[in-house]
Amino acid sequence: KPKRIVLSPNLTTCHQSLSDADQPVYCCPPESETLEPIVDFQFPDSSKPIRVRKPAHLVDADYIAKYNKAIDIMKSLPYEDPRNYIRQANMHCLYCTGSYNQQHSNSLLKIHRTWLFFPWHRMVLYFHERIIGSFIGDENFALPFWNWDSPDGMFIPDMYLNGSMDDTQRESSHLPPQVADINYDYVESGLGTGEQISANVALMYNQMVSGAKKAELFMGCPYKAGENGFCDGPGTIELAPHNPLHAWVGSNSNTEREDLGAFFTAARDPIFYAHHSNVDRLWNVWNELRSNRPSVEDPDWLESTFFFHNEKSQLVRIKVKDVLDTSKLRYTYENVEDVWLTARP
Ligand code: C2O
Repeated sequence: KPKRIVLSPNLTTCHQSLSDADQPVYCCPPESETLEPIVDFQFPDSSKPIRVRKPAHLVDADYIAKYNKAIDIMKSLPYEDPRNYIRQANMHCLYCTGSYNQQHSNSLLKIHRTWLFFPWHRMVLYFHERIIGSFIGDENFALPFWNWDSPDGMFIPDMYLNGSMDDTQRESSHLPPQVADINYDYVESGLGTGEQISANVALMYNQMVSGAKKAELFMGCPYKAGENGFCDGPGTIELAPHNPLHAWVGSNSNTEREDLGAFFTAARDPIFYAHHSNVDRLWNVWNELRSNRPSVEDPDWLESTFFFHNEKSQLVRIKVKDVLDTSKLRYTYENVEDVWLTARP
């Protein structure tokens, strides 16, 4: 039986890549990475407590102070350390701009607009969260989620406006009290707060329920190793609100709406992790809506393989099939009311 070729980066091929506007960018780790030993992913011990991710607009001052402290530590580390803040942000740049070729092929590896969107971002959050926890000595540390699908959460959360969580490269006219347009298309909607909230809730119903009845619609297109190349069919949530919110937060005075608005800089804004935490939560919600029936059973998806550094700075090999059950990853989301669920037009 011929060995299946799965989608995976060739770590020895890291090279300059292009931003969305074809600007050359370079996000590679130090070359020594290719010599590092690789360990296989292992689930956290099932005796460990479950980390509970909470809405960013509801966390307390203590939590915010701890999170700020961890970010400061990450920023103080040298670039050679994979836990360094920019190294962490560059993980996104690497896999989003096509810095790696695929294993056994010269095609670039890009995870967006495909069925790798949900699992890959789950991985980056998983490792980032544990790195933060290790810096503040808190095994229970859980990232917050930006609850932009709930009326109370449709604003940039206050915790991101001060200290190390602030980012100067955001659109100033979109700071609170401006309500987010979660279907933003580079043009101001002109809607008042109440109308915008209703429009947002209606969009959520469509992206999560009426427009996402088939797994392909929600998960994105099959992207396989080598011959198929980049499939370019994003799932409903990736398309919106995910993409519009990136553009809505990033600064209008930057060519590509950096930071959050561009792939190569998005994860330099700490709100990136909260934004994706909500995307990740919605993946779980969608799975629950379909009674957790497996969404994709194709081994090409299940075996797709990536590499991340863990909190011990070990290079870990991890597969899509490793991240399908968040209880095995020992984290969960605080229950919130999904108001859009009953917003059938
Ligand atoms: Cu990797 Cu929110 O994009």
